[in-house]
Amino acid sequence: MSKKTVLTGITTTGTPHLGNYVGAIKPAIAASRSDGVDSFYFLADFHALIKCHDPDVVQRSTLEIAASWLALGLDTESATFYRQSDIPQIGELTWLLSCHTAKGLMNRAHAYKAAVQENVEAGEDPDFALTMGLFSYPVLMAADILMFNAHEVPVGRDQVQHLEMARDIGQRFNHHFGELFVLPKAVVGENVAVLPGQDGRKMSKSYNNTIPLWLPEKKLRKAIMRIVTNSLEPGEPKQTDDSALYSIFAAFASKDQCAEMKTAFADGIGWGDAKQKTFELINLELAPARERYLELIEKPALIEDELQAGADKARSYAEPFLQKIRYAVGLRPLS
Ligand code: TRP
Repeated sequence: MSKKTVLTGITTTGTPHLGNYVGAIKPAIAASRSDGVDSFYFLADFHALIKCHDPDVVQRSTLEIAASWLALGLDTESATFYRQSDIPQIGELTWLLSCHTAKGLMNRAHAYKAAVQENVEAGEDPDFALTMGLFSYPVLMAADILMFNAHEVPVGRDQVQHLEMARDIGQRFNHHFGELFVLPKAVVGENVAVLPGQDGRKMSKSYNNTIPLWLPEKKLRKAIMRIVTNSLEPGEPKQTDDSALYSIFAAFASKDQCAEMKTAFADGIGWGDAKQKTFELINLELAPARERYLELIEKPALIEDELQAGADKARSYAEPFLQKIRYAVGLRPLS
Protein backbone atom coordinates (compact mmCIF):
# COMPACT_ATOMS: atom_id res chain seq x y z
CA MET A 1 0.00 0.00 0.00
CA SER A 2 1.35 3.44 -0.80
CA LYS A 3 2.13 5.75 2.05
CA LYS A 4 0.19 8.81 3.04
CA THR A 5 2.10 12.06 2.48
CA VAL A 6 1.94 14.62 5.27
CA LEU A 7 3.51 18.02 4.67
CA THR A 8 3.77 21.25 6.56
CA GLY A 9 5.72 24.50 6.39
CA ILE A 10 7.14 26.63 9.17
CA THR A 11 7.52 30.30 8.36
CA THR A 12 11.00 31.36 9.36
CA THR A 13 10.28 34.50 11.28
CA GLY A 14 11.19 34.89 14.92
CA THR A 15 12.25 32.45 17.60
CA PRO A 16 10.09 29.42 18.43
CA HIS A 17 8.06 29.56 21.67
CA LEU A 18 6.35 27.00 23.88
CA GLY A 19 3.10 27.40 21.92
CA ASN A 20 4.83 26.44 18.64
CA TYR A 21 6.42 23.50 20.38
CA VAL A 22 3.25 22.08 21.90
CA GLY A 23 0.94 22.92 18.99
CA ALA A 24 3.13 22.09 16.00
CA ILE A 25 6.69 20.89 16.48
CA LYS A 26 6.09 18.12 19.00
CA PRO A 27 3.15 16.49 17.17
CA ALA A 28 4.94 16.80 13.82
CA ILE A 29 8.05 15.08 15.10
CA ALA A 30 5.94 12.33 16.67
CA ALA A 31 4.01 11.88 13.40
CA SER A 32 7.21 11.62 11.37
CA ARG A 33 8.08 8.51 13.35
CA SER A 34 4.87 6.65 12.54
CA ASP A 35 4.88 3.99 9.83
CA GLY A 36 2.79 4.48 6.77
CA VAL A 37 3.52 8.21 6.65
CA ASP A 38 5.88 10.02 4.34
CA SER A 39 6.51 13.38 5.95
CA PHE A 40 7.78 16.58 4.39
CA TYR A 41 8.64 19.45 6.73
CA PHE A 42 10.13 22.59 5.35
CA LEU A 43 11.37 26.01 6.37
CA ALA A 44 9.14 28.43 4.51
CA ASP A 45 11.72 31.12 3.88
CA PHE A 46 10.05 32.41 0.69
CA HIS A 47 7.05 33.07 2.91
CA ALA A 48 9.24 34.79 5.49
CA LEU A 49 10.20 37.42 2.91
CA ILE A 50 6.60 38.63 2.82
CA LYS A 51 6.73 39.84 6.40
CA CYS A 52 10.42 40.29 7.02
CA HIS A 53 12.64 42.57 4.98
CA ASP A 54 15.74 42.31 7.15
CA PRO A 55 18.15 39.80 5.56
CA ASP A 56 20.01 39.04 8.81
CA VAL A 57 16.78 38.29 10.62
CA VAL A 58 15.65 35.97 7.82
CA GLN A 59 18.92 34.05 7.98
CA ARG A 60 19.02 33.94 11.78
CA SER A 61 15.43 32.70 12.10
CA THR A 62 16.11 29.98 9.56
CA LEU A 63 19.09 28.84 11.60
CA GLU A 64 17.20 28.92 14.91
CA ILE A 65 14.17 27.10 13.61
CA ALA A 66 16.19 24.43 11.81
CA ALA A 67 18.33 23.92 14.93
CA SER A 68 15.17 23.63 17.05
CA TRP A 69 13.63 20.86 14.96
CA LEU A 70 16.88 18.94 14.83
CA ALA A 71 17.57 19.37 18.55
CA LEU A 72 14.07 18.12 19.35
CA GLY A 73 14.78 14.89 17.55
CA LEU A 74 13.32 15.16 14.07
CA ASP A 75 14.45 12.02 12.29
CA THR A 76 15.76 13.34 8.98
CA GLU A 77 16.24 9.82 7.68
CA SER A 78 12.51 9.17 7.64
CA ALA A 79 11.23 12.75 7.20
CA THR A 80 12.28 15.03 4.36
CA PHE A 81 13.43 18.26 6.02
CA TYR A 82 14.35 21.10 3.67
CA ARG A 83 14.43 24.81 3.04
CA GLN A 84 11.82 26.00 0.56
CA SER A 85 14.22 28.31 -1.28
CA ASP A 86 16.49 25.34 -2.07
CA ILE A 87 13.74 23.92 -4.26
CA PRO A 88 13.57 26.13 -7.38
CA GLN A 89 10.79 23.89 -8.71
CA ILE A 90 8.46 25.46 -6.13
CA GLY A 91 9.03 28.91 -7.59
CA GLU A 92 8.37 27.67 -11.09
CA LEU A 93 5.25 25.80 -10.09
CA THR A 94 4.01 28.97 -8.39
CA TRP A 95 4.03 30.70 -11.76
CA LEU A 96 2.33 27.85 -13.57
CA LEU A 97 -0.40 27.82 -10.93
CA SER A 98 -0.71 31.61 -10.95
CA CYS A 99 -1.73 31.45 -14.59
CA HIS A 100 -4.72 29.35 -13.57
CA THR A 101 -5.66 31.07 -10.35
CA ALA A 102 -8.60 33.45 -10.41
CA LYS A 103 -7.68 36.87 -9.10
CA GLY A 104 -11.09 36.93 -7.48
CA LEU A 105 -10.13 33.93 -5.38
CA MET A 106 -7.09 35.79 -4.04
CA ASN A 107 -9.21 38.88 -3.34
CA ARG A 108 -11.05 36.79 -0.77
CA ALA A 109 -7.97 35.72 1.21
CA HIS A 110 -8.35 36.69 4.89
CA ALA A 111 -4.82 38.03 5.34
CA TYR A 112 -5.09 40.28 2.30
CA LYS A 113 -8.60 41.44 3.16
CA ALA A 114 -7.58 42.28 6.71
CA ALA A 115 -4.69 44.40 5.44
CA VAL A 116 -6.99 46.29 3.04
CA GLN A 117 -9.54 46.78 5.80
CA GLU A 118 -6.90 48.26 8.07
CA ASN A 119 -5.90 50.72 5.37
CA VAL A 120 -9.48 51.75 4.75
CA GLU A 121 -10.09 52.29 8.45
CA ALA A 122 -6.94 54.39 8.69
CA GLY A 123 -8.15 56.54 5.78
CA GLU A 124 -5.31 55.32 3.53
CA ASP A 125 -5.40 54.07 -0.03
CA PRO A 126 -6.72 50.47 0.17
CA ASP A 127 -3.48 49.11 -1.31
CA PHE A 128 -1.18 51.19 0.88
CA ALA A 129 2.01 49.22 1.72
CA LEU A 130 0.58 45.99 0.29
CA THR A 131 2.94 43.85 -1.75
CA MET A 132 2.26 41.33 -4.48
CA GLY A 133 3.95 38.85 -2.15
CA LEU A 134 1.16 39.21 0.39
CA PHE A 135 -1.50 39.11 -2.32
CA SER A 136 -0.12 36.00 -4.06
CA TYR A 137 0.85 34.17 -0.88
CA PRO A 138 -1.87 31.50 -1.22
CA VAL A 139 -0.55 30.52 -4.66
CA LEU A 140 2.95 30.00 -3.28
CA MET A 141 1.47 27.96 -0.47
CA ALA A 142 -0.53 25.89 -2.97
CA ALA A 143 2.70 25.21 -4.90
CA ASP A 144 4.42 24.09 -1.66
CA ILE A 145 1.71 21.54 -1.11
CA LEU A 146 0.83 20.40 -4.64
CA MET A 147 4.51 19.98 -5.58
CA PHE A 148 4.75 16.98 -3.26
CA ASN A 149 1.22 15.64 -3.69
CA ALA A 150 0.52 15.95 0.02
CA HIS A 151 -2.62 14.23 1.26
CA GLU A 152 -2.70 15.90 4.65
CA VAL A 153 -1.45 19.26 5.81
CA PRO A 154 -1.41 19.89 9.57
CA VAL A 155 -2.01 23.61 10.13
CA GLY A 156 -3.48 26.09 12.56
CA ARG A 157 -7.06 27.21 12.11
CA ASP A 158 -5.91 30.47 10.49
CA GLN A 159 -4.51 28.47 7.54
CA VAL A 160 -7.62 26.47 6.68
CA GLN A 161 -8.72 28.97 4.03
CA HIS A 162 -5.33 28.67 2.32
CA LEU A 163 -5.78 24.91 2.15
CA GLU A 164 -9.17 25.34 0.53
CA MET A 165 -7.55 27.63 -1.99
CA ALA A 166 -4.82 25.05 -2.68
CA ARG A 167 -7.54 22.48 -3.37
CA ASP A 168 -9.37 24.92 -5.65
CA ILE A 169 -6.22 25.72 -7.56
CA GLY A 170 -5.22 22.07 -7.87
CA GLN A 171 -8.71 21.05 -8.95
CA ARG A 172 -8.87 23.67 -11.64
CA PHE A 173 -5.47 22.60 -12.96
CA ASN A 174 -6.47 18.93 -12.94
CA HIS A 175 -9.68 19.76 -14.75
CA HIS A 176 -7.72 21.43 -17.51
CA PHE A 177 -4.71 19.15 -17.83
CA GLY A 178 -5.70 15.79 -16.36
CA GLU A 179 -5.19 14.32 -12.91
CA LEU A 180 -1.81 15.70 -11.94
CA PHE A 181 -2.28 16.77 -8.35
CA VAL A 182 -3.51 15.10 -5.21
CA LEU A 183 -6.05 17.42 -3.58
CA PRO A 184 -4.81 18.10 -0.05
CA LYS A 185 -6.80 18.21 3.17
CA ALA A 186 -6.14 20.50 6.11
CA VAL A 187 -5.70 18.69 9.40
CA VAL A 188 -6.48 20.97 12.29
CA GLY A 189 -5.41 19.21 15.45
CA GLU A 190 -8.55 19.14 17.59
CA ASN A 191 -6.78 17.47 20.46
CA VAL A 192 -3.61 19.50 20.15
CA ALA A 193 -3.53 22.01 22.94
CA VAL A 194 -3.75 25.69 22.11
CA LEU A 195 -1.37 26.89 24.72
CA PRO A 196 -2.30 30.04 26.64
CA GLY A 197 0.40 32.66 27.12
CA GLN A 198 1.47 34.44 30.29
CA ASP A 199 -1.63 36.66 30.23
CA GLY A 200 -4.06 33.78 29.65
CA ARG A 201 -4.80 34.62 26.00
CA LYS A 202 -3.55 32.29 23.27
CA MET A 203 0.26 32.24 23.25
CA SER A 204 1.16 34.31 20.22
CA LYS A 205 3.79 36.74 19.07
CA SER A 206 1.05 39.23 18.27
CA TYR A 207 -0.03 39.34 21.94
CA ASN A 208 3.52 39.60 23.23
CA ASN A 209 2.79 36.90 25.79
CA THR A 210 5.09 34.13 24.58
CA ILE A 211 7.62 32.06 26.48
CA PRO A 212 10.57 31.36 24.16
CA LEU A 213 11.39 27.68 23.83
CA TRP A 214 15.08 27.92 24.57
CA LEU A 215 15.23 30.29 27.54
CA PRO A 216 18.02 29.35 29.91
CA GLU A 217 16.76 27.61 33.02
CA LYS A 218 16.64 30.66 35.31
CA LYS A 219 14.83 32.79 32.77
CA LEU A 220 12.40 29.99 32.01
CA ARG A 221 11.57 29.80 35.70
CA LYS A 222 11.06 33.56 35.86
CA ALA A 223 8.81 33.50 32.79
CA ILE A 224 6.66 30.79 34.34
CA MET A 225 6.45 32.72 37.61
CA ARG A 226 4.92 35.58 35.59
CA ILE A 227 1.94 33.55 34.33
CA VAL A 228 -1.27 35.26 35.52
CA THR A 229 -3.18 33.69 38.39
CA ASN A 230 -5.91 35.00 40.65
CA SER A 231 -5.56 36.21 44.22
CA LEU A 232 -6.54 32.99 46.01
CA GLU A 233 -4.23 32.26 48.94
CA PRO A 234 -2.45 28.97 49.67
CA GLY A 235 -4.95 26.63 51.35
CA GLU A 236 -7.89 27.95 49.33
CA PRO A 237 -9.24 25.46 46.74
CA LYS A 238 -8.52 26.47 43.14
CA GLN A 239 -10.16 25.73 39.80
CA THR A 240 -8.20 24.14 36.98
CA ASP A 241 -10.75 25.01 34.22
CA ASP A 242 -9.97 28.68 34.01
CA SER A 243 -6.30 28.48 34.93
CA ALA A 244 -3.71 29.32 32.27
CA LEU A 245 -1.08 27.85 34.57
CA TYR A 246 -2.89 24.52 34.73
CA SER A 247 -3.31 24.42 30.92
CA ILE A 248 0.39 25.01 30.44
CA PHE A 249 1.22 22.35 33.02
CA ALA A 250 -1.18 19.89 31.38
CA ALA A 251 0.39 20.37 27.93
CA PHE A 252 3.56 18.79 29.29
CA ALA A 253 2.13 16.36 31.83
CA SER A 254 1.11 12.71 31.70
CA LYS A 255 -2.44 11.68 32.65
CA ASP A 256 -1.28 10.76 36.13
CA GLN A 257 0.55 14.03 36.60
CA CYS A 258 -2.57 15.92 35.50
CA ALA A 259 -4.71 14.03 38.00
CA GLU A 260 -2.21 14.75 40.74
CA MET A 261 -2.15 18.46 39.94
CA LYS A 262 -5.96 18.59 39.86
CA THR A 263 -6.04 17.16 43.36
CA ALA A 264 -3.39 19.63 44.47
CA PHE A 265 -5.50 22.52 43.07
CA ALA A 266 -8.58 21.25 44.92
CA ASP A 267 -6.46 20.93 48.09
CA GLY A 268 -5.38 24.54 47.78
CA ILE A 269 -1.79 24.36 46.51
CA GLY A 270 -0.21 27.83 46.58
CA TRP A 271 0.34 29.52 43.21
CA GLY A 272 4.08 29.72 43.83
CA ASP A 273 4.29 25.96 44.41
CA ALA A 274 2.16 25.17 41.37
CA LYS A 275 4.40 27.38 39.26
CA GLN A 276 7.54 25.73 40.60
CA LYS A 277 6.12 22.29 39.71
CA THR A 278 5.22 23.54 36.24
CA PHE A 279 8.71 24.91 35.74
CA GLU A 280 10.30 21.64 36.84
CA LEU A 281 8.13 19.60 34.51
CA ILE A 282 8.78 21.77 31.45
CA ASN A 283 12.47 22.08 32.21
CA LEU A 284 12.80 18.31 32.56
CA GLU A 285 11.33 17.83 29.10
CA LEU A 286 13.33 20.58 27.41
CA ALA A 287 16.72 20.48 29.13
CA PRO A 288 18.34 17.70 27.05
CA ALA A 289 17.10 19.23 23.79
CA ARG A 290 18.24 22.67 24.98
CA GLU A 291 21.78 21.38 25.33
CA ARG A 292 21.68 19.92 21.83
CA TYR A 293 20.20 23.17 20.54
CA LEU A 294 22.98 25.26 22.05
CA GLU A 295 25.58 22.97 20.48
CA LEU A 296 23.89 22.94 17.09
CA ILE A 297 23.39 26.67 16.86
CA GLU A 298 27.18 27.04 17.09
CA LYS A 299 27.60 24.69 14.12
CA PRO A 300 25.66 26.21 11.24
CA ALA A 301 27.68 24.13 8.74
CA LEU A 302 26.27 20.96 10.23
CA ILE A 303 22.73 22.25 9.93
CA GLU A 304 23.42 23.42 6.39
CA ASP A 305 24.54 19.88 5.50
CA GLU A 306 21.30 18.46 6.88
CA LEU A 307 19.27 20.96 4.87
CA GLN A 308 21.20 20.23 1.69
CA ALA A 309 20.64 16.51 2.11
CA GLY A 310 16.93 17.21 2.64
CA ALA A 311 16.82 19.47 -0.40
CA ASP A 312 18.39 16.71 -2.54
CA LYS A 313 15.65 14.35 -1.44
CA ALA A 314 12.93 16.93 -2.05
CA ARG A 315 14.27 17.89 -5.48
CA SER A 316 14.50 14.28 -6.57
CA TYR A 317 10.73 14.18 -6.13
CA ALA A 318 9.94 17.68 -7.36
CA GLU A 319 12.04 17.76 -10.53
CA PRO A 320 10.55 14.81 -12.46
CA PHE A 321 7.07 15.85 -11.34
CA LEU A 322 7.64 19.41 -12.54
CA GLN A 323 8.78 18.07 -15.91
CA LYS A 324 5.48 16.25 -16.20
CA ILE A 325 3.57 19.43 -15.34
CA ARG A 326 5.60 21.50 -17.81
CA TYR A 327 4.79 18.99 -20.50
CA ALA A 328 1.12 19.04 -19.61
CA VAL A 329 0.84 22.82 -20.01
CA GLY A 330 2.77 22.82 -23.29
CA LEU A 331 6.29 23.73 -22.21
CA ARG A 332 7.78 20.99 -24.37
CA PRO A 333 10.88 20.37 -26.41
CA LEU A 334 10.25 21.15 -30.06
CA SER A 335 11.30 17.80 -31.36
N1 TRP B 1 1.60 29.88 5.80
C1 TRP B 1 1.91 28.95 6.84
C2 TRP B 1 1.86 29.65 8.19
O1 TRP B 1 2.01 30.86 8.25
C3 TRP B 1 3.26 28.34 6.63
C4 TRP B 1 3.29 27.57 5.36
C5 TRP B 1 3.87 27.96 4.19
C6 TRP B 1 2.68 26.32 5.15
N2 TRP B 1 3.67 27.01 3.25
C7 TRP B 1 2.95 26.00 3.78
C8 TRP B 1 1.95 25.44 5.95
C9 TRP B 1 2.48 24.81 3.23
C10 TRP B 1 1.49 24.26 5.38
C11 TRP B 1 1.75 23.97 4.02
O2 TRP B 1 1.68 29.00 9.20
